[in-house]
Amino acid sequence: MLIKTQADGFIHPLSSEIAPQQVYQERRQVLQGLGLMGLAAMGAPQMAWADTSPRPGQLPPLNARASTQAGAMASEALTPYKDATSYNNFYEFGTDKSDPGRNAHTLKTSPWSLEIEGLVKKPGRMNLEDLLKLSPMEERIYRMRCVEGWSMVLPWVGYSLAELINKVEPLGSAKFVEFVSLADPKTMPYVGSRVLSWPYVEGLRLDEAMHPLTLLTFGMYGEVLPKQNGAPVRLSVPWKYGFKNAKSIVKIRFTDKQPLTAWNKAAANEYGFYSNVNPNVDHPRWSQASERRIGDGGLFAKKQKTLMFNGYEAQVGQLYAGMDLTKNF
Ligand code: MTE
Repeated sequence: MLIKTQADGFIHPLSSEIAPQQVYQERRQVLQGLGLMGLAAMGAPQMAWADTSPRPGQLPPLNARASTQAGAMASEALTPYKDATSYNNFYEFGTDKSDPGRNAHTLKTSPWSLEIEGLVKKPGRMNLEDLLKLSPMEERIYRMRCVEGWSMVLPWVGYSLAELINKVEPLGSAKFVEFVSLADPKTMPYVGSRVLSWPYVEGLRLDEAMHPLTLLTFGMYGEVLPKQNGAPVRLSVPWKYGFKNAKSIVKIRFTDKQPLTAWNKAAANEYGFYSNVNPNVDHPRWSQASERRIGDGGLFAKKQKTLMFNGYEAQVGQLYAGMDLTKNF
């Protein structure tokens, strides 16, 4: 059955369809009691990720109504937890995919606060505890696609960034939102290296940031984010290439100018501002037409066709009506 959620007006199959709502909630409670909350996140057909990797802890309860499989097909298996936490990009901790999993334990995620500045009526600093309480948590299963050609299907936990944006009331002159990650050389060994300019900065147009699919993310697999995945707060924007998803965010700035992002500064011809997943626009060094799912047999995994806007075209295509997507890549 398809459910039209009030929050966004989109049609999503609910993951509670896989395990009926009551069973789903009861299973969560039982597993929470056993300290196995991660196992409660999904129903039996999608237990592929269930493994014995150590988990970082728990989040405030999920909004019972809001567990959605936004855009991801019920038949798509979740990426195993151990792959999602050991194959990462987080250059502050090294450039190899295995570096963040090995090195990010030094990241200090508490106390944490998020500064809101720029063109808003209510600028200021919010601590993580208040941010966690700002809106009910939802679980959203998103396809994620990285520019190097790999993809994952991940159960994120958070709420739409629009909830926060509405609270701080952008001025009419605000057109873009800039996201700034922590850059602490004491705890992040590669901050200061010349691989990127620091801090890591990303940006979205205000309407992209306000789109209900844009998730301010605090957890995955029903638990707080592991450090290598961008604890304690990151973005998940499923129709864009992975690098748009700034991790360990400390500042959100509202501007009237398109932000200069870390990857755009490093190689403007390779990493445009929009970075919408687009199988028709090649990266200068490789095709973007197909992808491999991590956890599906590694380099030997069958390639599958990449979908326009990563499969979220029905939801987000109208944001780019009339734009030349080969120029605005
Ligand atoms: N955020 C920060 N601060 N630093 C980074 O190096 N890498 C980006 C993005 N966010 C990055 C970042 C890239 S290139 C990708 S593909 C995703 O994080 C990877 O997210 P994941 O490790 O949770 O899959």
